Amino acid sequence: MLKAVILIGGPQKGTRFRPLSLDTPKPLFPIAGLPLIQHHIEACAKLEACKEILIIGSYTTSHMQQFVTDMAKEYHVIIRYLQEFTALGTGGGLYHFRDQVRAGNPTAFFLLNGDVCADFPLKDLWHFHEEKPNALVTIMGTEATRQQSVHYGCMVCESGSKSVTHYVEKPNSYVSTLINCGVYVCSLQVFHTMADAFQKKQDRFYSGNGHSNPGYMSWEQDVLAPLAGTNKLYAMQVNNWWSQVKTAGSAIYANRHYLELHKERTCTNATCTVLPDVFVHPTATVDPTAVIGPNVSIGAGVTIKAGVRIKESIVLNNATINEHALVMYSVVGQEASVGEWSRVEGTPSDPDPNKPFAKMDNTPLFNTDGRLNPSITILGASVVVPAETILLNSIVLPHKHLTRSFKHEIIL
Ligand code: GTP
Repeated sequence: MLKAVILIGGPQKGTRFRPLSLDTPKPLFPIAGLPLIQHHIEACAKLEACKEILIIGSYTTSHMQQFVTDMAKEYHVIIRYLQEFTALGTGGGLYHFRDQVRAGNPTAFFLLNGDVCADFPLKDLWHFHEEKPNALVTIMGTEATRQQSVHYGCMVCESGSKSVTHYVEKPNSYVSTLINCGVYVCSLQVFHTMADAFQKKQDRFYSGNGHSNPGYMSWEQDVLAPLAGTNKLYAMQVNNWWSQVKTAGSAIYANRHYLELHKERTCTNATCTVLPDVFVHPTATVDPTAVIGPNVSIGAGVTIKAGVRIKESIVLNNATINEHALVMYSVVGQEASVGEWSRVEGTPSDPDPNKPFAKMDNTPLFNTDGRLNPSITILGASVVVPAETILLNSIVLPHKHLTRSFKHEIIL
């Protein structure tokens, strides 16, 4: 039997995803029509041997319960949400709930970061791990550019055995272009290594040199880095699509790839003109004269009126796009409304297509001159954009009723 653990952090994480994470926890933000971590759940549930999925985070249970109940029903697998009493870090939460992971004595468990998107090759990862008798952890790795690699966990591997000999999380200078994707298979014995790491943390805390929270542990720094060079840590390199979801811009990029990956879910019976790939929730109302796509997700209860054009965007539940409006490279929040003949447009922040292995640059909101970096346009929940206005590369916080056009601004 196998299990899976999904780490989702808490309200204090996902700050670069604001304002989209203000009303929906980032792990539940819909990408290609499914909450972000439903893609993880679906990948785990596809494996016959995976009998339980544990979601660990510090969001309150009330935020997660409905989702967990719905998922358990949909995928017929045991799913539980385990709430950390405080943010314990990527390793602390897992260690705190170790008895829940061990219960039923699974052969191994998958560990997935909730903020990555991928074509998760879990079966291959499991087979790879199974073949290494000493392996405690197998990391799914991918190639990055030399320049971008330093923003990730970097690994050096033995070419034959694929044993990780060196692991550095976000190094100061170049180490390797093989990076950690935040997707792992772990044997239960890894909890012994975690117990040692935990003991060291406690010793440091009581001698006055440690983290202010003694339960805090970093999976990458306190567990993976010390395991490197012991022949207990392995990396399986994949070439499948993979990306982190950190900024709102990366949601548009992830949306495109998940739509492409799950063509079975994309829209085939819409009455309007559809340029694939497009997801339209069955409860959305779309005028036949609208043109939607490519790479658009339309949420539940959305109304799209005559002559509307939408591409490369996500429109969240119950939003209204009025006659002849255009929406491009944008996220339209829940219950928001775009007036007729208005133009809501952002700038894509995709990986450089001319650089092999390039990943999304999660550029900060502002450049060094203090100016807003061009990015997708975001309308927070219940924002109203009046008719005949232009909104370009802007972020509008929830509930704002705009009265004019804006370019390159954050509207509070
Ligand atoms: P950043 O660039 O700071 O975001 O670092 P990162 O890309 O290395 O991500 P990080 O290590 O912060 O998070 C990896 C995954 O673990 C994400 O899915 C987070 O939501 C999750 N995570 C981070 N901190 C915690 C925590 O304290 N508890 C739990 N349960 N999950 C966490």
